[in-house]
Amino acid sequence: MPASPSPVATPAAASSAAASPAPLAVEIGGVHLALGRGAAAVDVLRGVDLAVAPGETVGIVGPSGSGKSTLLMVIGGLERPDRGTVRVAGQDLTGLDEDALARFRGRHVGIVFQSFHLIPTMTALENVAVPLELAGRADAFARAEAELAAVGLSGRLNHLPKEMSGGEQQRVAIARALAPEPALIIADEPTGNLDAATGAAIVDLMFRAQAERGTTLVLVTHDAALAARCGRTVRVRSGVIEPEAPARVAAS
Ligand SMILES: Nc1ncnc2c1ncn2[C@@H]1O[C@H](COP(=O)(O)OP(=O)(O)O)[C@@H](O)[C@H]1O
Ligand SMILES: [Mg+2]
Repeated sequence: MPASPSPVATPAAASSAAASPAPLAVEIGGVHLALGRGAAAVDVLRGVDLAVAPGETVGIVGPSGSGKSTLLMVIGGLERPDRGTVRVAGQDLTGLDEDALARFRGRHVGIVFQSFHLIPTMTALENVAVPLELAGRADAFARAEAELAAVGLSGRLNHLPKEMSGGEQQRVAIARALAPEPALIIADEPTGNLDAATGAAIVDLMFRAQAERGTTLVLVTHDAALAARCGRTVRVRSGVIEPEAPARVAAS
């Protein structure tokens, strides 16, 4: 940027320059993605734009099969778009190779799935600690223990997933997602396999962590109560995000 010709640098100009560069938590533009091969290929995402500010909570809703999970996977760097841009915390994910993408996810993105996705042969403590160890954290086990305590599982450290209830397994998954202190948490129907009361407790945990840490939370849900707790909801239909404002006229 060229230097200002003005001899006087005002404090207002200086402070606005210092405050401006915080990148969006998520910035997706013109994302297209087809899944499946040949005649079975499906255009799952058909031009998705989405911007999420740091600390925002966004609920992604829409009919089954509309592309919600696929969109979340693109945001989390688990699926690569065929075209379009994907930036998370200012990092362009489309420019990263698989190793760099895995490292980026490990540090910056926490992921919670409907079906928990815990490693069945590992204890609760190991499920949370091992990803931290792989990320080079010397305090992996101490940190994992603290995260499990924070979700109320101090009494289950050495239990295997099959020895825990669904709600307890999801608590482990949340502890695992939060442990690396990611800036972004993505969750795909995190209460989908839980009864209403257990699901509500899981939601409380996620939102408490979000509020305490200022984490950005993007979640897919069919649960109207969960969607209502998000600061904003976006509706996906047939691979595109439906415009919010009725005044916006479709271009094609
Ligand atoms: N690996 C795949 N191969 C082919 N089609 C797929 C694949 N994964 C998802 N799809 C299709 O993409 C569409 C959107 O899937 P998904 O993102 O899971 O939707 P949602 O989460 O909204 O239910 C569905 O029609 C689904 O059948
Ligand atoms: Mg889905």
